[in-house]
Amino acid sequence: MPLFSYQYSSQFQQFPSQRPNVTTICGNLNNRRKNNGTEAAQYAGRPRLGDTCILRGAVIDDQDVSDCDMEIAQGQQTNTIDAKEENIDFIPAREFVVNDHSVTLPPTFICNRITLSHSVSIFKRHLSDIKLHLAQSNADHLLDVSADSDLVIGVYEGGLKTWESAGDLLEYLGLLFERGEFNVEMGGKCLELGCGSSLPGIYMLVRCPLIRVDFQDYNEQVIGHVTIPNILLNTALAPSDNDIDKDNIAEVDITDSINLLAKVTERSRFFSGDWTGLTDVLDMKSNSDKYDIILTSETIYNISSMPKLYNVIKESLKRPTGIAYVAAKTMYFGVGGGVLPFKQLVEADGIFNVKVVFNVTNNVKREILELRYK
Ligand SMILES: C[S@@+](CC[C@H](N)C(=O)[O-])C[C@H]1O[C@@H](n2cnc3c(N)ncnc32)[C@H](O)[C@@H]1O
Repeated sequence: MPLFSYQYSSQFQQFPSQRPNVTTICGNLNNRRKNNGTEAAQYAGRPRLGDTCILRGAVIDDQDVSDCDMEIAQGQQTNTIDAKEENIDFIPAREFVVNDHSVTLPPTFICNRITLSHSVSIFKRHLSDIKLHLAQSNADHLLDVSADSDLVIGVYEGGLKTWESAGDLLEYLGLLFERGEFNVEMGGKCLELGCGSSLPGIYMLVRCPLIRVDFQDYNEQVIGHVTIPNILLNTALAPSDNDIDKDNIAEVDITDSINLLAKVTERSRFFSGDWTGLTDVLDMKSNSDKYDIILTSETIYNISSMPKLYNVIKESLKRPTGIAYVAAKTMYFGVGGGVLPFKQLVEADGIFNVKVVFNVTNNVKREILELRYK
């Protein structure tokens, strides 16, 4: 018996700037009830925008509505990082084999269209839709871990959200195409390390039909619930202009999951777990198997993980022409990482020339480093 019913449109009037949707509210409500140690909220059917949503035993309050995504366009800067790193057993690196056992697609995705300058426009799965799906699956422990902290080192490394430097890297890639340094006929191989939402890697996949792009994230749940859905939302499931509302949100129906998942693997492989041991799993037998381009954003926050990331770049980047782009905040408080210590690490090794190619100076400072073989 429903204890509470909720009319989408009335709440919308109350919070016009945040354009709540029913799925957002269900997702947030599930998280909060789980975090409080109570059972997840149940709701009748899968709601669509504008539906009346009936929640059993749940009271929706303002917080449910105002909990909203950290969107790269808004440039929010308050990340909380849980840096306790004693005796961490990092999850071992392995290939994430895509099939209908490893990835369960829901009946629909809710996504946002993000438009940056240089005509860069890309779709990403809405954070609340990701959280709702996680709550329904047996991957829901990531919700508990991610509730109070943007990342917990060695457990959850932050891939559910889209971090600001991913937007910078997208902007910069757009600029490289605009300048003719990259072009749509490019082939070869690209790797996005610490991909999370994977927007830079997906941008390369979409703009260059001949390129292969592989993706790595620490948490396999991120690959299944964020990376692969975002690839689909920008390829086989890309919404048409008619499907996108005035707030740049679209709801996309999913049919024929097996075929969709097969398409995802045509030009991509996926890897999860720690950077230590990743190069063995990538299985590059010769220089020609290595990557022409390596992309990574917001992955140098933890000073003790930096050598692991750097070693993957060094061992996986094709000689002598490979280029790596590392986008990050200039400084991460509390965990010691940032652009300067990473640059010093690279310079001390003496293999690459490293320089800053992109700067964001407003709000919290961010930079992009380019690494090329000497
Ligand atoms: C803060 S998230 C950034 C996600 C995404 N690149 C973005 O900018 O939105 C950091 C990412 O680094 C990766 N990462 C961090 N530490 C790692 C480790 N020790 N081994 C493998 N991956 C790691 C995780 O995959 C995680 O998604």
